[in-house]
Amino acid sequence: MEWTRESRYTKMEDVSQEDLEILKNKVDASPWRQSYHIQPETGLLNDPNGFSYFNGEYHLFYQWFPLGPVHGLKYWYHTKSEDLVHWENVGVGITPGDYFDSHGAYSGSAIEHDDKLYLMYTGNTRDENWVRHPYQCLAVMGKDGSILKASPAIDEVPEGYTDHFRDPKVWKEDDRFWSVIGAQRTDETGCVVLYSSTDLIHWQFEGELKTKLDSFGYMWECPDYFEQDGHGVLIFSPQGIEPQDDSYQNIYQSGYLLGKPLNLDDRLFEHKEFNELDCGFDFYAPQTMEDPSGRRILVGWMGLPEIEYPTDEHGWAHCLTIPRELTVKGNKLIQQPIHELAILRGKEEKATGILRDETRTFEGFNGVTYEMISEFDNVDASEFGVEIRTGETERTVISYDDAARKVVVDRSESGEAFAEKYGTTRKCKVESGKIKFHLFVDVSSVELFVNDGEEVFTCRIFPGEGSDGIRFFAKEGTARFEAVKWDFQAEMGKGSEANGHAV
Ligand code: FRU
Repeated sequence: MEWTRESRYTKMEDVSQEDLEILKNKVDASPWRQSYHIQPETGLLNDPNGFSYFNGEYHLFYQWFPLGPVHGLKYWYHTKSEDLVHWENVGVGITPGDYFDSHGAYSGSAIEHDDKLYLMYTGNTRDENWVRHPYQCLAVMGKDGSILKASPAIDEVPEGYTDHFRDPKVWKEDDRFWSVIGAQRTDETGCVVLYSSTDLIHWQFEGELKTKLDSFGYMWECPDYFEQDGHGVLIFSPQGIEPQDDSYQNIYQSGYLLGKPLNLDDRLFEHKEFNELDCGFDFYAPQTMEDPSGRRILVGWMGLPEIEYPTDEHGWAHCLTIPRELTVKGNKLIQQPIHELAILRGKEEKATGILRDETRTFEGFNGVTYEMISEFDNVDASEFGVEIRTGETERTVISYDDAARKVVVDRSESGEAFAEKYGTTRKCKVESGKIKFHLFVDVSSVELFVNDGEEVFTCRIFPGEGSDGIRFFAKEGTARFEAVKWDFQAEMGKGSEANGHAV
């Protein structure tokens, strides 16, 4: 189907049940449906929204266009979980269509107040000349799960900024509520602005966050500010950054500034340089929340805007990443898969040995949905690592290039090709004599945590169903390795509910 400007703004309620059913059947028959990642039942998923803990459960919404794999009229879709691993599909959370969100309920966040969950999001509107005007909106969720919209909280863009003004992220500090909003200055550079409120209803414009990045891309989307281990952390997704060495290879970036806690009086944020959050191919617009035990947990969109993916022709696109716990070490954010994911571990396999200029397979080491940790040391090989999802002609290669001291992920032979114009390898410097690859593999994705979360590579891949092999290798020398793998298949057997994709 060809999507026009008009058809992209079709409302779900204007489509017949029969047509929705046809689309659903098409998606259900699609190869590459994930098994333990949050994914849309139909259509396109993008940013995680409203990530929170409320009334004894985790809530995670996402940007959703139900009718096809394109960026159309965005809804908030609601999922919830007791353990951050098994997600229940609740249904539509916010339906667009009011004067303040006529062209989409865009991204935003959630905060608990007075026994209710306040959802603050951007209402996207367009006038008859297709000129956009954003509102910052409120919807309130009660303990019974019902969500009601309130009047918009902020209905104007302040002087000095364009209508690219969106994605409020709210937190509470010093008895006040604060919200960062992604913005574009009238000179077409990106930045983040700050608002404050005492009641979440009335908001006051405080001004721009003062960072050292005066001219860093043309728009900063999805800002998120929090404090972690005594540091201030500002996450955002800048657009318009040119590739530089191994960095900034994707169409748009996502990264963070680490610094002293933000001074809320003068909005000064003293920080170190910008770092990307993820070295992989498919990661954007992440959002964090603080859970009841004080952990800072991040979920990202495992996808990017303006890129066609192989699932498009099957009526759906994208998924969310697994949740990651954030901590600070030195000048870096460390990202670790949340420990709860161990619930999914089924059958365990182990392998160990010395690889001498060879590629080896091991009994039990195969699959399409698993967690695997492999550690390499005593290395004098020029290159070593693991190939996953291998088949007759397919493989995804995760390696360490010893001379360059870089981890390399190569998806040039992973399966169905896409986004090749942005390159088929991603690299990142990792200085260490010991290399640990911690992998989460699902039907069409790989998330790689290197050396206990020092670097992460998030990648979609689209291999054939039968490409389920795993091979360890060392080139031009030896490498000692030890690997353990847990099948996630066993859990999938528990039925769709267990996978969070109940329909
Ligand atoms: C980021 C983004 C946000 C916006 C949303 C719309 O991917 O462009 O800035 O709110 O997606 O779906």
